[in-house]
Amino acid sequence: MGVNRKIQTLDEFTIQQMRDFPNATGELAGLLRDIGLASKRVHVEVNKAGLVDILGEAGTTNVQGEEVKKLDIFANNQFMGVLRHGISCAGIGSEEMDDIVVFDDDISNNSKYVCLFDPLDGSSNIDVNVSIGTIFSIYRRVSELGKPATREDFLQPGINQVAAGYVIYGSSTMLVYATRRGCQGFTLDQSIGEFTLSHPDIKCPETGKVYSVNHGNFFQYNEKVQKYITACQQKDKSNGGPYTQRYIGSMVADVHRNLIKGGIFMYPGTTDKPQGKLRLLYECNPFAFIIEITGGKATDGERRILEIKPEKIHQRTPFFVGSKLMMEEYEQTI
Ligand code: AHG
Repeated sequence: MGVNRKIQTLDEFTIQQMRDFPNATGELAGLLRDIGLASKRVHVEVNKAGLVDILGEAGTTNVQGEEVKKLDIFANNQFMGVLRHGISCAGIGSEEMDDIVVFDDDISNNSKYVCLFDPLDGSSNIDVNVSIGTIFSIYRRVSELGKPATREDFLQPGINQVAAGYVIYGSSTMLVYATRRGCQGFTLDQSIGEFTLSHPDIKCPETGKVYSVNHGNFFQYNEKVQKYITACQQKDKSNGGPYTQRYIGSMVADVHRNLIKGGIFMYPGTTDKPQGKLRLLYECNPFAFIIEITGGKATDGERRILEIKPEKIHQRTPFFVGSKLMMEEYEQTI
């Protein structure tokens, strides 16, 4: 049987990219491989979620006598495990953990990257079979190599990201990541257990017809957001409409759809929560980076997300992200 030369795996792709940089150490390629490995393990568990009655509820002991962990804790442990045992990561920050974890050993102290991630975003959707995802963000350390990573390595503005990406566990499982060189999408080929390049050089369409926002909070949004949402609803053929509202409640799925098809996603501040719900470091920065690299825009309603200097690792921010022209429509709303 002939070999299909068109198939390129995640590892093959990242190694090929590395060849363009004679001084590359392979650490970034190693990190992406580690993240790919952890996400394949999470994919397997996510696909078993419907069998919870057979396998046992979270917090109980299953028929094999093993403790059943909540999926978000399981995912967190997988990512922490592969990154701790790999050779490319000096420490991690996770939405699931109160503080950063610095891997203080000889190999890790000489690793030049730190990684931030939301191991299972949209986890309230697991029980109802809706797409969920993992989001990750990679920074080059600013602290001295040879010593343990520091908090400053994690509190860098998003503009300093070396790479960012997400994994969507949906009708198929995909890993999408961006570097300054572009954004690539890989679909998990379950028959060989490999992520294979399926969406090369992704570009976010300049405009779209979808707006994604939690309408239930409408009366808690500020006047500008209310006006923009109303304008989306009033669009007709004469001004590029009608727009469609789509809101899954799982940002990875909502932003993935808008990245491929065009659209705008908003999680504004509300009167109850002026900073909204989403986390700058684990959710907004990675998506802002991916969307900007592919041609779109991301703001907190006023400022470019990637220029915000974080003060706390679990900081929240309002978030507006999507196709360039739709974002500009929002910005021009007064
Ligand atoms: P969680 O992981 O707690 O389910 O949160 C998901 C996030 C994000 O992915 C999604 O867009 C948003 O929260 C939905 O929040 P609302 O239900 O408040 O709209």
